[in-house]
Amino acid sequence: MKKNKIFLIVAVLGFALSGCVYDFVAPEAPIVIDPDDPDAVVVSFENDIVPIFQAKCVSCHKVGGIKSTPDLTADKAYNNISGYINSTTPAASEIYTKPSPDGNHPAKYSTNEAALVLGWIAQGAENN
Ligand code: HEC
Repeated sequence: MKKNKIFLIVAVLGFALSGCVYDFVAPEAPIVIDPDDPDAVVVSFENDIVPIFQAKCVSCHKVGGIKSTPDLTADKAYNNISGYINSTTPAASEIYTKPSPDGNHPAKYSTNEAALVLGWIAQGAENN
């Protein structure tokens, strides 16, 4: 009987404590791209930027979409965004500011996506 009681207490305690255990979700490691750093990762338009557009933008930004300009579909995006890029002041580029994480566009970049877009522009906005 005593054993059972102890078991019960342990079981209850176990449940109570396991309720407090939570999965630690590591915050997204912030991406910082310094264009003046020769060792900085090179952002690829094709591999880093286009997938962001695909995931967050093309639902509206395509021919026949709610907003056809800029058309951000994979094969057209590069040729369509030059007008939204400010190569003198990358952070003023509309392709970067419009869907800013703290802005009010219907789709927003995550902090890291914004850093990638800014880094890509600062590195020369190449079709790479
Ligand atoms: C739900 C639909 C929708 C989604 C998703 C969306 N947009 Fe837009 N976007 C619009 C609309 C509508 C406008 C026009 C109104 C305005 O300027 O806010 C616009 C305007 C813009 C403009 C300015 C275009 C111009 O001609 O002045 C840019 C740049 C832009 N969006 C970029 C993006 C990017 C990059 C993404 C993805 C991260 C995105 N948008 C996702 C609907 C959307």
